[in-house]
Amino acid sequence: MSIPTAPIFGFEKVAWADKALRVRSVFASVAGKYDVMNDLMSLGVHRLWKRFALSSPASNPANRPWTWQAAPGDCRWACCGQVGKTGRVVLSDINANMLQVGRDRLLDLGLTGNIECLVADAEKLPFHDHSFDCVTIAFGLRNVTDKDAALRSMYRVLKPGGQLLVLEFSTPVAPGLKPLYDAYSFNVLPWLGQVIANDAASYRYLAESIRMHPNQETLLGMLQAAGFAQVRYHNLSGGIVALHRGYKI
Ligand SMILES: C[S@@+](CC[C@H](N)C(=O)[O-])C[C@H]1O[C@@H](n2cnc3c(N)ncnc32)[C@H](O)[C@@H]1O
Repeated sequence: MSIPTAPIFGFEKVAWADKALRVRSVFASVAGKYDVMNDLMSLGVHRLWKRFALSSPASNPANRPWTWQAAPGDCRWACCGQVGKTGRVVLSDINANMLQVGRDRLLDLGLTGNIECLVADAEKLPFHDHSFDCVTIAFGLRNVTDKDAALRSMYRVLKPGGQLLVLEFSTPVAPGLKPLYDAYSFNVLPWLGQVIANDAASYRYLAESIRMHPNQETLLGMLQAAGFAQVRYHNLSGGIVALHRGYKI
């Protein structure tokens, strides 16, 4: 097993115990404005990224597809639609505030029948081996302290033949995109965070954490190291976001 390197919070190296605490405080702070900020920052495009991700699992309702890690965000109702009436969805997040916001939105939509909400750490998922047909993590892996441990944990809970989908910010590959994207991320995002959520620091963390996240090929190798087979990725919006997919065989 590889020894994980020191964790980072944005651009800053931090102690192991501090990373999770600081991530928790970011999301406790942004939870109330999370959805509206996502819409503003991406001009609604985050909904298309999530729709694309969830249009891809070859889920058969008869197979009881499950998922995990959605919190607020739009994956939750897409998952509910995909599993049908007999399937089950588990929404999970380490942060109770984020989970609560997601749960409230589901209640508003009347979507609660086949859904469980659970506070859990992605590094130590509290499920039996071989429990899920599909595991998704959307914009979450970047925030996890030990990403390799989280990938191994997701592998463990998948059934043989099950699939992992990782939707995450990545490295722009479209020509000319990077300088524009950098200018937007480091200037506009903290400003929007300050104006809308009274919290520039959390949105500075967002920009920094994206830059420090493994690029497409590195993440592909991490999935393979965790045991996933047939790993591939698809760039979205010129590589600003990538969808990685792998199977447990
Ligand atoms: C950017 S939000 C993404 C929320 C949602 N999935 C979406 O797509 O909008 C990142 C989430 O990852 C959660 N998170 C961070 N570390 C985690 C961990 N170790 N285990 C589970 N969730 C974690 C945070 O609490 C936060 O809610």
